Amino acid sequence: MNILHVVGARPNFMKITPVWRAISNTISGQQTLVHTGQHYDINMSEVFFTHLGLPKPDYYLGVGSGTHAEQTAAIMIALEKVLTELNPDLVLVYGDVNSTIAAALVSAKLMIPVGHVEAGLRSFDRSMPEEINRLLTDQIADLLFTPSKDGNENLLREGIDPRKIHFVGNVMIDTLVQLLPKARNTKVKDLSDRYALVTLHRPSNVDDLTLLKQIVSTLIEISDDIQIVFPVHPRTRKRITEFNIEFPGTNTFKLLEPLGYLDFIALLKTATVAITDSGGIQEETTYLGLPCLTVRKNTERPITISLGTNTLIGKDMSLLKQEVGRVLSGDVKKGKIPPLWDGQTSERIVNVLQRFFKNLTSN
Ligand code: UD1
Repeated sequence: MNILHVVGARPNFMKITPVWRAISNTISGQQTLVHTGQHYDINMSEVFFTHLGLPKPDYYLGVGSGTHAEQTAAIMIALEKVLTELNPDLVLVYGDVNSTIAAALVSAKLMIPVGHVEAGLRSFDRSMPEEINRLLTDQIADLLFTPSKDGNENLLREGIDPRKIHFVGNVMIDTLVQLLPKARNTKVKDLSDRYALVTLHRPSNVDDLTLLKQIVSTLIEISDDIQIVFPVHPRTRKRITEFNIEFPGTNTFKLLEPLGYLDFIALLKTATVAITDSGGIQEETTYLGLPCLTVRKNTERPITISLGTNTLIGKDMSLLKQEVGRVLSGDVKKGKIPPLWDGQTSERIVNVLQRFFKNLTSN
């Protein structure tokens, strides 16, 4: 069987890694790796391939940045040529980025079956570009691999055929389980015993001048009580420069370049609290039992709140200060690891794929 994977942006790389490996170990046939080039900086892309042990992509589409239409369209045009040439038996897409919907749409139009890894998540907030990507990808996918039962419920409510839906667990956690032992040392200098690890990149937070200024000034206040360690996403870096936002330049507020996977996980493992708007970090902190304060008013990963260690802060910066204070006083949210977040998700995906291919060949 010939399986083609499409990835493009940073969070895709952690998701494909265990699936690629499990397929190589189990299914005979060929795998092709296509990188759209949505993320292209070394520290947003190449470093992940190195840390995760992913092979060099077979095809690099080099689409780069642009408006949503420009980026999605460029991926579609370039990928259509590759798919027409290779005609794979299945295309696997990951997560909710523009590369995900673009690849799913091209494949579906070419009548190539599509599998969506991390299906069914919903924030119910259509102002998020990822929510549109999730809704549309799930409508046209043939195999939908969900990380949590809420995903199954969302898909059933949207009229997806239950035979297409497979609750397999969380592939991101497969990667975390596998690589945690390797993420021993952080390269960050002068790290305090207690620190808050901060990441911010959502357009709703960083593209809004007033809000970004409020968030940064709150973080500066928080840095009086706990060291802030903030690897800055390129989108955020661009806005900080554009908006002329200034930072204290002290050791209690450390601004870093984006980190590779092993470096980031090493930092997350020993952090006191995470402050973030990322989806993946809400999941990783739940697995690690680390308090996570999410600077968003909703999440497509509600299980990290109901079972895990996540708390939604919204845009209320006084709440952020209050919740950090609570963590520092030792009052931390205790969580549980959600069902099937056990490091074995990619094996369950492979089992589904084997049944799928068996049906394909017997029909
Ligand atoms: C994308 C995803 C988002 C995901 C995030 C993870 C979509 C709609 N959004 O957001 O869901 O959480 O990736 O990082 O797909 N840039 C660089 N170098 C790079 C990549 C980006 O400088 O390697 C800058 C460019 O100025 C670009 C901006 O970052 O315009 C945004 O990049 P883009 O891929 O459009 O979206 P992200 O904000 O990274």
